Amino acid sequence: MKRLAILGASGHGKVVADAASLSGWREVIFFDDAWPTITQNGPWKVSGSSADIMAQASEFDGVIVAIGNNRVRKDLQRELSVAGLNVVSVVHPSATISYFAEIGAGSVVFANAVINACASIGSGCIVNTGAVVEHDCLVGDFCHLSPNAVLAGGVSAGELVWVGAGASVKQLVVLGEGVTVGMGSVVLRDIPAGHVVIGVPARTLYFQE
Ligand SMILES: CC(C)(COP(=O)(O)OP(=O)(O)OC[C@H]1O[C@@H](n2cnc3c(N)ncnc32)[C@H](O)[C@@H]1OP(=O)(O)O)[C@@H](O)C(=O)NCCC(=O)NCCS
Repeated sequence: MKRLAILGASGHGKVVADAASLSGWREVIFFDDAWPTITQNGPWKVSGSSADIMAQASEFDGVIVAIGNNRVRKDLQRELSVAGLNVVSVVHPSATISYFAEIGAGSVVFANAVINACASIGSGCIVNTGAVVEHDCLVGDFCHLSPNAVLAGGVSAGELVWVGAGASVKQLVVLGEGVTVGMGSVVLRDIPAGHVVIGVPARTLYFQE
């Protein structure tokens, strides 16, 4: 593993870069459409825009999208995949991942996260710092499990689900596509697609397409 290109010079991108460096990538280079206004992301250099990442594809061993918004991350990752770039996942060395769990391409797993036996994480997901994905959970593509979120055993999350920081979801609950769980919430029942829920127990705040 030598050179990793990261699309998205964000704060989240910094955490991806840090995890990548600690897990063996020798060089990390950022790209962002705010370039050339932004040329630096913390200690890392921003070298060009999303168009440049395509033009310079042969110079990288892997590429990953580091954008917190699930839908934006999905669209950009798809563009990179269609263009034939090698979309990789990044796992912080302190994360604990069962030998019997699966993680899709383009996903990141941050420090102290735990993914237990027979859990499946889709493509382009963020399993953020300290998040816990218990046994037999099925997490769809382009989900974000925020810091210290907990999915108890057998939870199913559809594509584009966002579970906020410190939120917990009871075992076997089904979160429909695009559900957002507010930070600190406790989800006890299945949530239909598109609902934004908050509180303890979690109730619908509003619905979004
Ligand atoms: C649920 C959430 C998406 C709603 O965001 P929003 O649509 O901008 O909603 P608002 O902030 O305008 O809040 C609307 C109301 O819900 C309440 N509310 C929002 N989030 C809440 C939460 N997590 N728990 C309890 N109440 C909450 C607000 O106090 C407000 O109540 P009010 O109308 O009585 O004043 C957001 O608050 C949230 O929790 N996001 C997750 C953040 C997170 O985990 N970030 C980690 C990134 S790594």
